[in-house]
Order: sequence, then C-alpha cells, then structure tokens
Amino acid sequence: MYTHTSINTTEDKPTAIAVLTSGGDSPGMNPAIRGVVRAALHQGIKVFGVHKGYSGLIIGDMWEMDSASVTNIVQRGGTLLKSDRCQAFLDPAVRHQAAEVLLKKGIDSLVVIGGDGSLTGAHMLASESSIRVIGLPGTIDNDIYGTDDTIGFDTAVNTALDAIDKIRDTALSHECLFLVEVMGRNSGFIATHVGIACGAELVVIPEYEVEVDAISFQLANNRVQGKGSSGIIVVAEGPTPGLTYNLAKQLEQHGQRPKVCILGHIQRGGRPTGHDRVLASCLGAAAVDYLCGGYNDVMIGIKNGAIAETPLQHIIDKKKQLDAQLFEHVQLLHK
Ligand code: F6P
Repeated sequence: MYTHTSINTTEDKPTAIAVLTSGGDSPGMNPAIRGVVRAALHQGIKVFGVHKGYSGLIIGDMWEMDSASVTNIVQRGGTLLKSDRCQAFLDPAVRHQAAEVLLKKGIDSLVVIGGDGSLTGAHMLASESSIRVIGLPGTIDNDIYGTDDTIGFDTAVNTALDAIDKIRDTALSHECLFLVEVMGRNSGFIATHVGIACGAELVVIPEYEVEVDAISFQLANNRVQGKGSSGIIVVAEGPTPGLTYNLAKQLEQHGQRPKVCILGHIQRGGRPTGHDRVLASCLGAAAVDYLCGGYNDVMIGIKNGAIAETPLQHIIDKKKQLDAQLFEHVQLLHK
C-alpha cells in the first residue's frame, strides 16, 4: 500500500526544497511535513520550512530544518508551519516576488500541502517560474481531483462520528430528530461517509438536490414503519456554515421539530488517525522522490491504493465526483 512505481531519484536532484502548508489546516499536515523533511535530508538535500503558507513565502519567512525540527509532531493536529489563506498570491507580480525570494536563497523546489485553492497557486507558480513545484492534497474535504483520499479526511470523518455517536444518545433519550451539520463546503464527501458510518436516516449534500417535502415524507414514512422516533440527518454545510438552521425552519413548517448541531471547526483539529499519519508520511516522502525524479507541476495522491501523480492543471480543470452508490447506500442501509 502507498508505494509508487520506481522513479529514478538521481535524475534531477533539487538543490534545496522549501515546504509550506496553505489554506485550511487538516490533521495529517504535520506527518506530511515530517515526511518531506526526513526524506529530503536522507537524500542530502537542504530543506526549509515556510511560515504561514504563501504569506510567509512572499516575504521570505522561512528557516532551515533538520531532523530534530520535526521530532514529536507525527501525532499532532494542525500544522507546525502554520497556515494561511493568502489572497495576495492571486496576483502574478506577487508570485514573481515569491519565486525571486526562493531563488535568492538557493532554493529551486517547493512542496505545497493544501486544498484546491492552494494547489491552484502551486500550479501558477510552477508555470510562471523556474521553481519546481509538487502539490500534496491536504484538506479534510476530500474534494480534490486526482486522488482517492486527502490528508485529514479520515480524521475529520472519525471526529464527526465521535460527536454524532454522543448526539445519538440524546436523540434516543428524548426521541427527537437532530440535523447535524458537517464541513465540506461544496462537496458531500464528509457528510456521505459520516452518514453511512453513523447510520443516518438521510444525508443532505450539495451534489444532490432534495426537496424539503421529500425529507419530511421520508421521516414520516420511517416513523410509520416503526423505525423509532429519533433520528440523525447529516447535512453538508454548503457555501456558508449555519444554513442548516434554515432547513430546520422549513422542516418545522412540515410539522417536524428538529434540533440543530453544527460541528464546525472541531472537525479540522485533533490527533490524526493512524490512516492519515501513514497516508501523509508516505505522500511527504514521495514528494521528495518525485522532485528527485525530475517531476514538476504535479500533485502526488492515491489512485487505486498506490501513489500516483496528476498534473496540477487537471486539479484545477476537473471536479472529483462523489460515488452515487455511496449516497444511495445511506438510505438503503437505513431501511
Ligand atoms: O476546506 C476546508 C474547510 O474546513 C471546509 O470544509 C470549510 O468550509 C472551510 O474550510 C472553512 O474555512 P475557514 O476555516 O476559513 O472558516
């Protein structure tokens, strides 16, 4: 698991590698950083940690790392390097400045760990400068084309499940319905996986439109069929957190009395699961192998259980599709 086809790692060794984390943090970013640092040092390549994503890169806020710099972080949530959503990086002049900063420090390669926005920035830097850039998919949302799995997704799903298992106790005790809002912005990967794993009655996700009438009908039907008087509906947050309160109001007009629980940022924090630690560590080490093999402007992810690259351009152009069967399974398994 998580091996890649043999790459000639003496092809084009970088002089020095910088590594940064960007966008929303995700549990597993630390083991990914550790993977990059330790693999680079093993190859005899200098490695620099950039503080606060692209914001730090622009102003040259970075330091040389050694093996001890990443000691005792494999089990920690968040990111040792800190992260930021850097709007300034959308400006080509700012990206030019970032490339100049790296070149002046003798750094010719960069590893970017982040979500789709961060990987878009990575592609732009790679295509506009001589810096070689490798992206790693670091987001809890699992919404990145070119990889079956993203760093942090498994932990976020398990964190949500921990919370929902507790909410379920209250739902059962009070015989009531809960709408639990999970993260995932415009994608329903977290909601669907959580929905299956917690035995939800329904999931509401951006990929499939569902009428309030239909939800209400289904709930009533479930009660008639004697499926208990409590329930959990998992709702993906969509463009703005808190929209689930609107859904609750609409359901009230149909005679339901749901309680709302927004899980929010607790899904982004916490110790990465074993799965995310292995995934992140292997992808971090693979990023260095790919750089040494002469690769540029690609993301390293997982396809069918193995490590594989995808051009960063594809990540921008293509949308990862949610497996429709998974969505259908939520309702099927509740029957
Ligand atoms: O992309 C990761 C994510 O956690 C989304 O699931 C969520 O919609 C968004 O980031 C929240 O961003 P912020 O931390 O900026 O509020």
